[in-house]
Amino acid sequence: MQFEVLRAQVQDGESWAEAADRTAVGAGPVLAVDLSGDPLRWRLDDEHRFSIRPMTPGDFPDVSRWVNEPHVARWWDEHRSREQVAAHYGPALRGEDPTRMWIWEVNGRSVGFSQDYRISDHPDYALLSSRPDAVGFDYALGEPAFVGRGLGTSLLWVFLRDIVWPAYPGVGEFFAAPDHRNAASLRVLEKLGFSQGVWFDEPGPYGRTDTVVGCSLDVAQVIGLS
Ligand SMILES: CC(C)(COP(=O)(O)OP(=O)(O)OC[C@H]1O[C@@H](n2cnc3c(N)ncnc32)[C@H](O)[C@@H]1OP(=O)(O)O)[C@@H](O)C(=O)NCCC(=O)NCCS
Repeated sequence: MQFEVLRAQVQDGESWAEAADRTAVGAGPVLAVDLSGDPLRWRLDDEHRFSIRPMTPGDFPDVSRWVNEPHVARWWDEHRSREQVAAHYGPALRGEDPTRMWIWEVNGRSVGFSQDYRISDHPDYALLSSRPDAVGFDYALGEPAFVGRGLGTSLLWVFLRDIVWPAYPGVGEFFAAPDHRNAASLRVLEKLGFSQGVWFDEPGPYGRTDTVVGCSLDVAQVIGLS
């Protein structure tokens, strides 16, 4: 079921998500559909159960397969083989790196993965965000059959609201920087209420330079004060 909330209906001191939950009168928490305009668009979903669980080494074969799927590989140049995936993500899984790694599930099936981190732990990246306490994240919906059906938007919303937001008390900004040609990713962020900021060149693999777009979410306005 979809429903709308006019921006004018959001009360003082209330976030957009809180206004939507209030409108859904106990049926929430709700899923964001499109927060880029006015009205803000939301939905409830009885058909899909979205869950996010910590990644384990047993997920490396899936992760390796996903990053080799053409719709992901285009934006994911490195760490493709199982060995490379294990070498790259193993330290975070063992707690040797503060990055947190997650598997996305729809109705119990693993379909994608994400990670979150304080961007201050990555000093070059931190310069690109206006707030020193910003939290960065990366994501991929790897299973091709699940792409292009609105599920990536829902999964990223659940990840940001249920997993990232509670873990960083007082966080003001969520930050991601897709390639400027990655229209699906930029659109998904826009639908979740992110604003586009500076474009910048980032060193890519094989000596390449990628031009990426800094996208920021005002956490207090969209999700709430944590
Ligand atoms: C980005 C990603 C998570 C999106 O998941 P998804 O389930 O396909 O996304 P949704 O169906 O929820 O929404 C996609 C939106 O992008 C739009 N879109 C998709 N391809 C597009 C294109 N080539 N040009 C313009 N818009 C495009 C869709 O129309 C839709 O917007 P709409 O609802 O307004 O029509 C998924 O495609 C993915 O994992 N891609 C590869 C990895 C990646 O790019 N990760 C992000 C790195 S920053």
